[in-house]
Amino acid sequence: MFSLIYSSEAIEPFNFKRLSDLCNKSAGCNQQLDITGYLYYRDGKFIQYLEGEELKVSGLMSRILKDSRHNVTQVIQEEGRTQRRFPNWSMHYLHKGLVHFEDVIGCHLELLKYSKTSSNTDQIWRVLDRLAESRNHNTLN
Ligand SMILES: Cc1cc2nc3c(=O)[nH]c(=O)nc-3n(C[C@H](O)[C@H](O)[C@H](O)COP(=O)(O)O)c2cc1C
Repeated sequence: MFSLIYSSEAIEPFNFKRLSDLCNKSAGCNQQLDITGYLYYRDGKFIQYLEGEELKVSGLMSRILKDSRHNVTQVIQEEGRTQRRFPNWSMHYLHKGLVHFEDVIGCHLELLKYSKTSSNTDQIWRVLDRLAESRNHNTLN
């Protein structure tokens, strides 16, 4: 199992329709590749988390990097997990209305912002574990 999280900046702002179209299309493609994860968007910035087989995830990431709708600013990879964090999310749109704990997202954004200067990327994965845990406890749909 291989996972990565990246942040990017949209070239033009995305509205709800564009975001849900992107997620629906992505979910269809990801299902075929057995890739799961989520997409978060706020104020022109994306955070996407992807997990699955290494070659498939890196293949998808190279397409995402070339996508002219955004500029990827940071990619952080994680190897060696045995289980998926979000087995039911082909590409879940993690939007504000569904997120009961903005602190997780806030922390997430801070970590991405500072991780270039911090060598401790473990914190990022701990935040994701919390998100996955809350998902499993059905506090997040
Ligand atoms: C923020 C963002 C996230 C994306 N996430 C995915 C994704 O999870 N799965 C996917 O197949 N395409 C995703 N895409 C679309 C890809 O970048 C790309 O357009 C798509 O895979 C088709 O690639 P192709 O035109 O090279 O065939 C995303 C695009 C953006 C801008």
